[in-house]
Amino acid sequence: MVTTAPPFASRRPTRRTGAGGWQSGGVSRTPQGQRASLDKQPHEVAAMFDGVAARYDLTNTVLSFGQDRFWRRATRAALGLRPGERVLDVGAGTGVSTEELAHSGAYAVGADLSLGMLHAGKRSRPHVPLLAGDALRLPFADASFDAVTISFALRNVSDTDAALRELARVTRPGGRLVVCEFSTPVNPAFRTVYLSYLMRSLPAVARAVSSNPDAYVYLAESIRAWPDQRALAARVGAAGWGRVGWRNLTGGVVALHRATRD
Ligand SMILES: C[S@@+](CC[C@H](N)C(=O)[O-])C[C@H]1O[C@@H](n2cnc3c(N)ncnc32)[C@H](O)[C@@H]1O
Repeated sequence: MVTTAPPFASRRPTRRTGAGGWQSGGVSRTPQGQRASLDKQPHEVAAMFDGVAARYDLTNTVLSFGQDRFWRRATRAALGLRPGERVLDVGAGTGVSTEELAHSGAYAVGADLSLGMLHAGKRSRPHVPLLAGDALRLPFADASFDAVTISFALRNVSDTDAALRELARVTRPGGRLVVCEFSTPVNPAFRTVYLSYLMRSLPAVARAVSSNPDAYVYLAESIRAWPDQRALAARVGAAGWGRVGWRNLTGGVVALHRATRD
């Protein structure tokens, strides 16, 4: 369940929780090094997602106990989209995240590296505009969008910092970014239970539902290796984004990082 008063953080030494639970404070500007499990080459990542595309939406909902729907709604709300605005959803996959954005009345377009995911999306959501595109070289001119977002995909991009810079390039000055990504649960006891689920139960459940269970071993490992809320906020800020803050969902299982184009 989405927490109603979660922590949000920014780059000042004191942690503060503001309206809507967005936190700021205590963010170091020192970027963390990427872990080996996050160093996937683009063709390997695309092939892996091609392999899960057929049952991606179902597997997602099963493995997240239906929470994915709440996370997507919270992402749309955090973007503050208005009718007529243009929003780009990078790493859109089957378009499940793009479709949610369109409920705001904004024009939402999705881009993804995996043709398998895009084809699955075209079949299940023919009304959602989806196109092939690499987060590191987006096929759009500078300042094309009012807002950009990336859900559960930044962790899979081979160069996180370059992707954040590329997202900034296609966003107009004053435009908004929301990164929706798995993160670090804040409660230590819950964190222990969650990590055990990730490393033991999730791959077992994936074997029962997914068309490519090995991909879910990668999922568990990549989540464990991913920077925590504070570290990711520092990287967003270092990539040309201002007013960086975050909000935890489901106790920090997922975090939304929000920022504004300088
Ligand atoms: C876990 S899925 C997320 C899909 C969707 N955004 C969602 O919320 O369910 C991650 C997606 O990121 C895509 N991806 C990974 N690296 C990418 C890159 N460099 N450029 C564009 N998409 C990428 C994958 O192909 C995959 O479809």
